[in-house]
Amino acid sequence: MTIRVFFALWPDADVAARLHAIALQRHAVLGGRVMREDSLHATLVFIGDVSPQCLSALQSAAAETQAHEFSMTLDESGCWRHNHIAYLGMRQIPESLRGLQSSLEEKLRKAGFTLETRPFSPHVTLLRKAECAASGKENPAAEPVAWTVRDFVLVKSSVGANGSRYEQIGRWRLL
Ligand code: 2AM
Repeated sequence: MTIRVFFALWPDADVAARLHAIALQRHAVLGGRVMREDSLHATLVFIGDVSPQCLSALQSAAAETQAHEFSMTLDESGCWRHNHIAYLGMRQIPESLRGLQSSLEEKLRKAGFTLETRPFSPHVTLLRKAECAASGKENPAAEPVAWTVRDFVLVKSSVGANGSRYEQIGRWRLL
């Protein structure tokens, strides 16, 4: 048996509500499937399928990752045609986010995990199966969303009839 896991930033209830409201507005234009409000997140490091015995190594790597709290603003609204995802992202990735992500990746690689090599592209998926042709390219977000990041989480993903279900199985505070 394996479990599918990833590290993510998880918004608090206020930020999630703002993101969800934007997802509903985007849905009116782009169709597709709206992400559930309690599922909205930004992936930090995607791990993939691992055996449950790997969890303690993932938790140790997370505990060794030290980074300070930071603020970021989701100020870019886009839609990727190749995977039909409508998302909010950032025109500039904050240095503190880059630092957190690369430090976590380094600890995970040291612990023996094989990670994706594609560049980090932080985003919150708002819609899946969106008709991106209706969106034009990336645009400044009409309502930028400010998000203070105080922690990061380890998430277990399982595929159900209504799409992926996410369960947080670990949380680490930033300094
Ligand atoms: P997405 O929202 O853009 O699809 C769980 O699948 C989370 O990990 C999602 O946020 C997903 O991004 C992200 N992810 C990153 N790389 C992935 C991969 N290779 N397969 C599935 N999900 C991936």
